[in-house]
Amino acid sequence: MARTEDPRSAPPIRWGILGAGNIAGAFADAVTQHTRAQLVAVGSRHRDRAERFATAHGIPTTHVGYRQLVEDPQVDAVYVATPHSEHREHALLAIKAGKHVLVEKAFTRNVGEAREVFDAAREAGVFVMEAMWTRFLPHVAALHQVIEAGEIGDIVNLSADHGQAFAYDPASRLFAPELAGGALLDLGVYPVSFAHDFLGVPDAVHAVGSLTQTGVDGQISIVLSYGERAQATLSTTLWAKTPTVALISGTEGNIQVAGSFYAPTSFRVQRTDGRVWTFDQPGTKGLQFEAAEVARRVAAGETQSPRLTWDDTLAVMETMDEVRRQVGVAYPGE
Ligand SMILES: NC(=O)c1ccc[n+]([C@@H]2O[C@H](COP(=O)([O-])OP(=O)(O)OC[C@H]3O[C@@H](n4cnc5c(N)ncnc54)[C@H](OP(=O)(O)O)[C@@H]3O)[C@@H](O)[C@H]2O)c1
Repeated sequence: MARTEDPRSAPPIRWGILGAGNIAGAFADAVTQHTRAQLVAVGSRHRDRAERFATAHGIPTTHVGYRQLVEDPQVDAVYVATPHSEHREHALLAIKAGKHVLVEKAFTRNVGEAREVFDAAREAGVFVMEAMWTRFLPHVAALHQVIEAGEIGDIVNLSADHGQAFAYDPASRLFAPELAGGALLDLGVYPVSFAHDFLGVPDAVHAVGSLTQTGVDGQISIVLSYGERAQATLSTTLWAKTPTVALISGTEGNIQVAGSFYAPTSFRVQRTDGRVWTFDQPGTKGLQFEAAEVARRVAAGETQSPRLTWDDTLAVMETMDEVRRQVGVAYPGE
């Protein structure tokens, strides 16, 4: 089985972190502990938050305001870790300052905003990628290798779920329409992107959903269809912790990807000829793999990752737009 390259073998790069929130902290830890990159600056809307974050993660420079961060000449690449509603504006800010950008998932609110960001990146000649970290994980590389080797034959069905139980809080970004909350953009993007990764762009999208009191999607079940035989059955919810497993079934066998399928994990291959084997992944966190991908592509002078191209992200956004249209979720100003 081919091994994923060690993130420490990626060239050094100097990161600036835009938004001192929850995932930004996890990213900072992953970069510091598992790569040769430097965290040179953090930008926050609030001085105390910037300083607390900088102290916690050993970052030498703090900026109050995102413009100051993106204009910092020490910064090579900006990690946008703000709510979905802000991704377009913050990615454009960084691109216009000539910086490479890694934008948290979901990439933007909708495909139109995503196109604007990629058009700006094309014009500026900078690297941009959606931070869909699952694509860069060792078990996902192994899954592709197994499937391409024909171990389970042709894929007939892929199923994946991502639900987490969140207490209802209208002030939380997860429930706020103005911050582009809802299950789909936060959690459902993982099963949707996973299906796109293994099956490509669907010919048809079917979705059924229920909304929260705030009018964002609380729960959605999705069926994607591909040609005559292949389908993906996906689900997402803000109301229950689901197993977060993925199953890929083919004409010659199936693969059971243990929860959480979107994070480093193991899988079990069960062939119709009776052979069974497992891929065991030591439990680690995984944001360092996407960070290493950015460093490698930037050093190579590339503007996209071949594992997650701009077209790949646009296709995922298009699927999610169609799901939201069917479920009846629109964000203010869309
Ligand atoms: N990869 C993963 O595993 C993972 C996990 C969780 C979330 N995410 C993604 O990461 C992004 C951020 O999620 P999070 O959980 O880190 O959120 P969070 O803890 O709320 O942090 C978001 C940060 O964005 C900044 N911000 C800028 N404008 C804002 C606004 N209008 N309202 C609220 N905050 C604003 C704030 O930073 P300052 O106040 O410091 O400026 C805030 O701390 C989302 O895209 C989410 O889907 C990814």
